Amino acid sequence: MTEPLLSIERVSHEFGARRALLPGRRTHLAVDDVSLSVAAGESLALVGESGSGKTTLGRVVAKLLTPTGGTVRVDGRDVGGLSGRELLAYRRTVQMIFQNTQHAFNPRRKIRDILADPYEIHGLPAPGGRDAALGELLERVGLHASMLDRYPHQFSGGQRQRIGIARALSLGPRLIVADEPVSALDVSVQAQVLNLFARLRRELGLSLLFISHDLRAVYFLCERIAVLYQGRLVEVAPRERLLEHPLHPYSRRLIAAVPGLGERDSAEVSAADAPAAAPDAGESTAAAVAGAEPVTGVGCHYASRCPLHLQLGRPERCLTERPALRAAAGGSAVACHFAGDEPPAPVRSVVSEEVG
Ligand SMILES: Nc1ncnc2c1ncn2[C@@H]1O[C@H](COP(=O)(O)OP(=O)(O)OP(=O)(O)O)[C@@H](O)[C@H]1O
Ligand SMILES: [Mg+2]
Repeated sequence: MTEPLLSIERVSHEFGARRALLPGRRTHLAVDDVSLSVAAGESLALVGESGSGKTTLGRVVAKLLTPTGGTVRVDGRDVGGLSGRELLAYRRTVQMIFQNTQHAFNPRRKIRDILADPYEIHGLPAPGGRDAALGELLERVGLHASMLDRYPHQFSGGQRQRIGIARALSLGPRLIVADEPVSALDVSVQAQVLNLFARLRRELGLSLLFISHDLRAVYFLCERIAVLYQGRLVEVAPRERLLEHPLHPYSRRLIAAVPGLGERDSAEVSAADAPAAAPDAGESTAAAVAGAEPVTGVGCHYASRCPLHLQLGRPERCLTERPALRAAAGGSAVACHFAGDEPPAPVRSVVSEEVG
């Protein structure tokens, strides 16, 4: 098998861990022993409710955060110890794009200067001359070279996101970590930017780690989907497989909650099926309804909300043993002791191949 471009190996990130011994300090395990890989040219989505650790994992991959456990490898090489020139080279290879373009650029600087920054920082000549390279970058993302002398406020939100993408592309990255890159945009503009990502992937052979709440966007852009729940990877599968045969009860709920994407069936929706927002409140509500204690640390984090746990008569194992990620049919892997032991929910797959 060929070496993946990116390997995330048992990565954890605990906020506050370094000061954990100081009195009154609390730590938060935002990413908990996650392993994933992305092949060259592949697009992998990270989905999961708010607070599930998507951004934290993305920032670890982009080396904006140092993991408190595990290893990130690119081309088989541990990137943990990189410094100096090697770290700069890594930053050229892996670029991150963020959601909010409103404050991403200094309003007093022209786009020409903003786009020139990466070349300055890395001390690299722009291919074919600076002006030509910057103009070409803008055209690559669907803008005009003549816009180089404009200021950020003279662009729309969608155009600013294109400029962010152009800046990320300037040094020829191989992997882009895109954190909710379209969620702040109008729906029609979202489709245009998603199409741009798809085109850039085709033209440049880029790999993408695409973080999103939007399962339609994810289905359009990504070949595989990884589902996080409270910092843990609960399922990873090829996109069709995940949408048509989600195995983990949490994945099934995520998909069923998107109108037109899946169909809620009665076996899946129960009193334990609490709303996705506000994980803490959700946990306690679900626990109260289901009569189970919220699970922390050991066992399955989802047990107190899990319809399957309830359906199976609340097996002790869910509360005492963390489910390992295990291979399942169709290229899926799932972290649930019991998923797959009951008939799959009927799920309609009606997502169009085209966005926009
Ligand atoms: N700097 C920080 N210090 C302490 N805890 C943090 C910090 N950043 C994030 N967290 C916590 O880590 C958890 C994961 O946060 P993260 O931002 O990765 O979630 P997310 O999946 O990206 O959520 P969203 O969909 O809302 O963007 C959350 O509980 C969050 O409160
Ligand atoms: Mg986030």
